[in-house]
Amino acid sequence: MTSHFAVNGLVKKYGENVVVDDLELPIEDGEFLVLLGPSGCGKTTTLRCLAGLETPQGGTIAFKDNIVFDADNKVNVPAHKRNIGMVFQSYALWPHMTVRKNIGYPLKVRKMRDALRGGSVEEAARMVDCEGLLDRYPSQLSGGQQQRVAVARGLVSRPDLVLFDEPLSNLDARLRDQVRSQIHQLHRRLGFTAVFVTHDQSEAFALGDRIAIMKAGKIEQYDEPDQVFEFPVSEYVAAFIGMANRIELRRNHNGWETTTGEPVDLSRAIVRDVPEGGTEAVARLRPDDLHLHSGENEVPAGNIVLHAELVDFEYGGRYYDVAVRTGDDQLMLRAPATEHAGALKKSAPGDKVVVSFAPSALRVFAATADATVDRVSATAKSASKVAS
Ligand SMILES: Nc1ncnc2c1ncn2[C@@H]1O[C@H](COP(=O)(O)OP(=O)(O)O)[C@@H](O)[C@H]1O
Ligand SMILES: [Mg+2]
Repeated sequence: MTSHFAVNGLVKKYGENVVVDDLELPIEDGEFLVLLGPSGCGKTTTLRCLAGLETPQGGTIAFKDNIVFDADNKVNVPAHKRNIGMVFQSYALWPHMTVRKNIGYPLKVRKMRDALRGGSVEEAARMVDCEGLLDRYPSQLSGGQQQRVAVARGLVSRPDLVLFDEPLSNLDARLRDQVRSQIHQLHRRLGFTAVFVTHDQSEAFALGDRIAIMKAGKIEQYDEPDQVFEFPVSEYVAAFIGMANRIELRRNHNGWETTTGEPVDLSRAIVRDVPEGGTEAVARLRPDDLHLHSGENEVPAGNIVLHAELVDFEYGGRYYDVAVRTGDDQLMLRAPATEHAGALKKSAPGDKVVVSFAPSALRVFAATADATVDRVSATAKSASKVAS
């Protein structure tokens, strides 16, 4: 399959600071690509290079197999000739223009007079349920309405490529879900090609045909959502996509064990890159895959058991978010309320508990000192509480 859009060897520096580092990103025609990564990893800069709003120092960018940027051959098609639509976090509507004028703006700039007269603005407004708002000004709209108008403006000229830069981040949770599903349905219907930037894993999984996980200006993993979800290629990716639990492992003559000496049989775990003969590793585990038991007799056969202490628990409706500690590791788990409400209400921090997990739920990586993993991990821990 040929890629109709392609970023090859892209380099963008600000002074000595390499923000986009030899980035490779093939994008299929009609694909909804999500660029996922923590704040500061270079997502916005990559989008701005695609849009022609930044001049990279190296690499090439092709749209529909036309070169729009080539550092070596001094090709740099200006932004307004790249046929893209953009939707920003801040909506960026013109305050002095009506909704009608805002949506029509890209058609006007591109001198698409037929589309302007032929009802394209009304059609775009209808797509996002804003046809009743055409004569209002942005200040007369809610945040969700403003962002829907911005989506209509991004799509109205039927661009080759639509770039979204965290468009849902300023909306409250309910509106975020609404606008997200509207974008998803529009993509299904219209089949435009999209690059959608976010730091939110649930948005990435919901929207992406493929997800590119970015780390310090490079793509760390690029695959379909279920592949990323099940088979993260590094601890960085695992931490970022919600495998919030980190268990340090060491190998002795009997096999692998936790730092508190509990055996962990890795023969059925998914071991990614522990070096042959290595004696240290790190396991990652989703809170959903860690189970709470009132005693060892309740542990399903074949599960790996850890003895822990209760740290805290929070009510979440159908479940409790429970924090436990084993040795130096604090682990999060989700306990169904129907089974655990009674016992949890009677418990106190410090109580001994038994937790277990299926060995196949573990993803095991070489133990490396990677400060970005710790940072991402902290974000993932708080995100795993709100995502369900
Ligand atoms: N115009 C600029 N001048 C200097 N540094 C910049 C500029 N824009 C972005 N950066 C730096 O580049 C890095 C990546 O920024 P950005 O692409 O905005 O990341 P993200 O969108 O992933 O949060 C950050 O360290 C940021 O400070
Ligand atoms: Mg950004």
